[in-house]
Amino acid sequence: MNKIEQTLSIIKPDAVERNLIEDIKSIFTQNNLSIKENKKIHITKEEAAEFYKVHQPKPFYEDLCAYLSSGPIVVMILEGDNAVSKNRKLMGATDPKNAEENTIRKLYGLSIDKNSVHGSDSLENAKKEIDFFFKN
Ligand code: CMP
Repeated sequence: MNKIEQTLSIIKPDAVERNLIEDIKSIFTQNNLSIKENKKIHITKEEAAEFYKVHQPKPFYEDLCAYLSSGPIVVMILEGDNAVSKNRKLMGATDPKNAEENTIRKLYGLSIDKNSVHGSDSLENAKKEIDFFFKN
């Protein structure tokens, strides 16, 4: 069943640095995900720690927070049919080495850390992540 959803997408510092913003956005729009909100920001390490707090127990948490706050990122609200799962399919596996052909991470990801994009993993988390960046 198709349902219109919203999800959060982040273009991470490695992709912003390599001028991939427009290429990545066009993958979303060509696949019928519209970009409802969009802003380029540079967050602090503390904000990154709050955003990724579900990963706090993981060994990569410190590096992950340092990385997301290391340079500008683009945060977007994507909207469309089954937006959460569609975005995850377009991104590909977390580790670019395991990502399918023509996914964003296969095309542009450099490593499991510098994997170019983040996307919400469920509708519930999408709501929380959208609020995190777009609720005043
Ligand atoms: P993201 O979808 O932004 O969610 C958490 C991030 O942690 C993930 O993408 C990866 O960039 C990063 N990460 C680093 N090491 C790992 C790991 N071993 N497993 C999962 N994610 C990892």
